[in-house]
Amino acid sequence: MKALVVYDSAYGNTRSVAEAIAGSLGPLQAEAVPVTEFKLPDLAENDLLVVGSPINGWRPTPKITELLSALADGRLKGVRAAAFDTRVKLFIHGDAAKKMTASLKAGGAEIVSKPMAFYVKGTEGPLRSGELDKAATWAKDLLARVGA
Ligand SMILES: Cc1cc2nc3c(=O)[nH]c(=O)nc-3n(C[C@H](O)[C@H](O)[C@H](O)COP(=O)(O)O)c2cc1C
Repeated sequence: MKALVVYDSAYGNTRSVAEAIAGSLGPLQAEAVPVTEFKLPDLAENDLLVVGSPINGWRPTPKITELLSALADGRLKGVRAAAFDTRVKLFIHGDAAKKMTASLKAGGAEIVSKPMAFYVKGTEGPLRSGELDKAATWAKDLLARVGA
């Protein structure tokens, strides 16, 4: 069993969260992988796939959307999965993690966590204080959920 944390990131904030998550998934030898480098054959039965994206206009980025569309129709059967987004803390901010979670489920993945959000201070960041610790805590929760 291994883990991949696939992310897109314009300004580096989602990448930082992805790397913090991968770093705290130690027993699964997790890697943070930019979305442009992800290949489905890299995943096997029972592996954990975490997908992260900044919210762009209430949805994941086009590259993440494209990837998840390509994985629809049961291509993620046997894989465990969870999704997170990064966002600004506005009263109305929309959602990407929930949409990504629904897409992962449509791809046949077993969803192991509810969608997670991490907050940036502005469009280019930086992350709000405590968000990397929150990422590490979430990763440990994921580990427990996949029995690693
Ligand atoms: C074109 C664009 C649209 C955005 N739309 C939203 C949005 O709908 N809701 C939100 O909370 N943040 C929105 N943001 C802010 C991003 O979420 C923020 O830039 C991102 O979390 C930074 O992550 P990154 O450094 O990984 O790119 C938007 C940013 C851009 C550039």
